[in-house]
Amino acid sequence: MDDASAWDLQSDLAIMNPTTPERVLSAARLARIGPDDLVLDLGCGSGGALALLAGTFGCRGIGVEQRAAAVEAARARLDAAGCADRVEVRCSDAAAPIALPAGITVCLCLGSASLFGGTAEAIGALRRLLPPGGRTILGERYWRTERVPPEFSRDFSDCLTEYELLTLAREEGFALAGIVRSTEADFDAYEAAIWAACRERLRTNPDDEELRAYLDRVQEEYLGYGRELVGWAMYVLDEPW
Ligand SMILES: C[S@@+](CC[C@H](N)C(=O)[O-])C[C@H]1O[C@@H](n2cnc3c(N)ncnc32)[C@H](O)[C@@H]1O
Repeated sequence: MDDASAWDLQSDLAIMNPTTPERVLSAARLARIGPDDLVLDLGCGSGGALALLAGTFGCRGIGVEQRAAAVEAARARLDAAGCADRVEVRCSDAAAPIALPAGITVCLCLGSASLFGGTAEAIGALRRLLPPGGRTILGERYWRTERVPPEFSRDFSDCLTEYELLTLAREEGFALAGIVRSTEADFDAYEAAIWAACRERLRTNPDDEELRAYLDRVQEEYLGYGRELVGWAMYVLDEPW
């Protein structure tokens, strides 16, 4: 299955990650987001996080997203939330050098670290994008154990343990200000939403063998090892002071 089809299966989710709007707000509070902030959301998807933050805290925002359908959905969401005057969405490659306005104070990278090559590379890229005093919320999956069987670790080669993440963040000059961790129930709900989207499409198109194989594979991965070995959390990175 190509990336566009996999994206489409999540397109009904406001936040395309195993978390909830309440947890995103908790992470934002830990990052001290307020009306004076300008939030840059890298790989912003359909703008759910930006709409939530701009609507709740009155901050301004810029979303960067390479998928045209997501950009369109994000602009519509921000418009409906009454935030379109404060949040701009750009259709471009967030990993490429982009001309950004001065004054960005917070970076969001929720489930988008892969666009930089993985979690380790994303931490470095976020540090370089932020001015002194800037904060970042990095939401990513992590290995729940140091002892990941090699056949599984190859599936998520860019995934870190939390200890590795802490070490890398410190090396880049960040302090870890907080963690907002998803529960197994959050993961179940996220997986179930993807399975439901697959099943809905299969109901009207039962001959789509590629989609059927995809659904089988993601269910087997989740119940075979993902549920036990992989977690997801938002890490709030701030100045060490
Ligand atoms: C897992 S989704 C997360 C979306 C959003 N952050 C959220 O939490 O709802 C990752 C997003 O990153 C986008 N993306 C991937 N590579 C990108 C790139 N190089 N530049 C901009 N966006 C990218 C994808 O199109 C997708 O919408």
